[in-house]
Amino acid sequence: MKPNYAFAFDIDGVLIKGKQTIPEAKRALRLLNGDNAAKRHVPFVLLTNGGGVTEAKKAEQISQMLDIEIRPEQVILSHSPMRLLVEKYKDKQVLIVGGVGNSCRDVAKGYGFENILTPDDIQQWNPSVWPFTPPKFDNPVKHDVPKMPIDAVMMFHDARDWGRDLQIVLDAVCAQNGVIGTQKIDFTAQQIPLYFSNVSKIWSTDFPAPRLGQGSFKVALEQLYETLTEQKLRSTSFGKPHGTTYAYAEHVIKNLSPGGCAEDTKPRVYAVGDNPAADIKGANAYGWTSILVRTGVFTEPGNSSIYPADAVCKHVQEAVEWAIDQEE
Ligand code: G3P
Ligand code: MG
Repeated sequence: MKPNYAFAFDIDGVLIKGKQTIPEAKRALRLLNGDNAAKRHVPFVLLTNGGGVTEAKKAEQISQMLDIEIRPEQVILSHSPMRLLVEKYKDKQVLIVGGVGNSCRDVAKGYGFENILTPDDIQQWNPSVWPFTPPKFDNPVKHDVPKMPIDAVMMFHDARDWGRDLQIVLDAVCAQNGVIGTQKIDFTAQQIPLYFSNVSKIWSTDFPAPRLGQGSFKVALEQLYETLTEQKLRSTSFGKPHGTTYAYAEHVIKNLSPGGCAEDTKPRVYAVGDNPAADIKGANAYGWTSILVRTGVFTEPGNSSIYPADAVCKHVQEAVEWAIDQEE
């Protein structure tokens, strides 16, 4: 019989830190893959606010780092639920921001977006768009940017050149009918919708202190927009802690093959994370059991004072053992 519980693991700060593997992560995932006295298999997904690559590529990277097979269908990246936007923007012009080179263009194309521009395309069209850093990426396809008015801006991953990308996203949302190089006079109605794939302000790497994430870019962008236009910048966000991402993840968990959860009931999901504002807030709000670990962003004594988790564990292996004890 299919189990009616599952795990959703955060990646950065729970399974890995930068290029380093968190040692207990290997044992934790093996426990769920049948390497235990009861030979039990418990379904799990990786639910990360990271991205910038395809789900298949991330599965391959994590499989190698943890020396365990992770299937692409087990990986939910920050931008995975943004597939849901394809229906609305399939044949519209979208500005896809973030990531290295064409990585996010390729992800967006894979989801089904057809007309994609990137900040690199715009800087290549006219390097004066951002006079302080030269274009780094030479795309063989040149774009006639003013003839490609932008219908929506979607940030898929962290900007690699914050200054340039702040400028270009502002250019797009302030443009008259999305035409880059023009500017509206009246800012009271925002014409161009803006989407973020995650809004985590900080995240955990192998650097000893937390690093700025996409959510911090959003703060900077909003502040600039408000200063320049005297209006609030409106946007829609995906990723943890947003409910759309959890609903998407729950659908993935039910449909994992092999080993998904029973389709007819709501599975009990144990969410293991290191960031209270993303992983714990989101899991608590969606009715999952939240487990906060001490291997990443969270370093306070005891539980998080702002977003308390159902349990706090030293690391991911202890979290898995605690959850299995609740079930058996
Ligand atoms: O940008 C932040 C992101 O990389 C954090 O990932 O796995 O901690 O949700 P994760
Ligand atoms: Mg994390």
